[in-house]
Amino acid sequence: MLPANSILPEGGFLDIPVDPELDLFSAIDRLKKEKKAVILAHYYQEPDIQDVADYIGDSLGLAQQASKTEADIILFAGVHFMAETAKILNPSRKVIVPDWKAGCSLADSAPPALFRQFKQKYPDHIVISYINCTAEIKALSDIICTSSNAVHIVESVPPEQPIIFAPDKNLGAFLNKKTGRNMLLWDGACMVHEIFSREKIVRLKHRHPEAKMIAHPECEEAVLAEADFIGSTTQLLKFSQTDSSSSFIVATEAGILHQMQKASPEKTFIPAPPNNLCACNECPHMKLNTLEKLYNALLYEVPEIQMEESLRLAAKLPMDRMMEISRKAGLVG
Ligand code: 13P
Ligand code: SF4
Repeated sequence: MLPANSILPEGGFLDIPVDPELDLFSAIDRLKKEKKAVILAHYYQEPDIQDVADYIGDSLGLAQQASKTEADIILFAGVHFMAETAKILNPSRKVIVPDWKAGCSLADSAPPALFRQFKQKYPDHIVISYINCTAEIKALSDIICTSSNAVHIVESVPPEQPIIFAPDKNLGAFLNKKTGRNMLLWDGACMVHEIFSREKIVRLKHRHPEAKMIAHPECEEAVLAEADFIGSTTQLLKFSQTDSSSSFIVATEAGILHQMQKASPEKTFIPAPPNNLCACNECPHMKLNTLEKLYNALLYEVPEIQMEESLRLAAKLPMDRMMEISRKAGLVG
């Protein structure tokens, strides 16, 4: 039962004070068992949340875990579109989030009404959308992709078929270069991956000539041009473990450094610098989630993701196509 006067989920999260004496790690663990809940967390979550999660992964891994979990409740520690994706794939589970307002600048850059108009101008094009978009945009798409499988997804489409790629213009440009396609790109971007400074990265590389520079494909072309390896968060993590280099300059959200450092304590990880003095390589949306909000969400089972069944089914179709192509490519089990 929600206490009277509690701020409802529409306000973002349950602003109910949590006893500062409470050991949140064991309290969350106990609630998880009592309620048969699973915590799925993205690599960009703060270290404490990663440590309390049952599964940590990139967008593709999280979507796969969400689709196959038998837990009654999925507590999704990530951003809104990721929790929506879990609901699309596994509607009989209750999907809750720590903070309703944990959104995504990239997903916001494609308002459905504008995208529908844009799509109507190119009736011969199919739409491939990056998973970082709303359920409405997914419903307007033919196939979804993530940064782990994007090349396979684009290459699964016959070369003569024109494609619109949305919403990330940087990932789209990277894919055009990699696959030799000329996809029409929606003008969207991630505020975190666009903030890296090529000039500062070049200076950093001079100071650390032994370091390999690794980058997420949501970064701008000029930054990607400096990279020794480009991949999704999981691919970057794997590369940092298997490559023989002892240090890495990492151009993606700084949360991933926690797992990199845990997996390879002897190696050095240097976050790529942003083009100003703020901590802008941290996603402000991802970082809205806290352990206290996780605890309250699990205790009161809100905020909950709900979705019209017609929208869910329309959004699921392109997700199913993505999963099928990923399975054939051996990218998911
Ligand atoms: P991946 O999880 O696919 O690497 O994407 C990164 C991202 O920006 C998630 O919001
Ligand atoms: Fe969205 Fe970028 Fe934050 Fe990922 S890192 S959730 S793409 S704003």
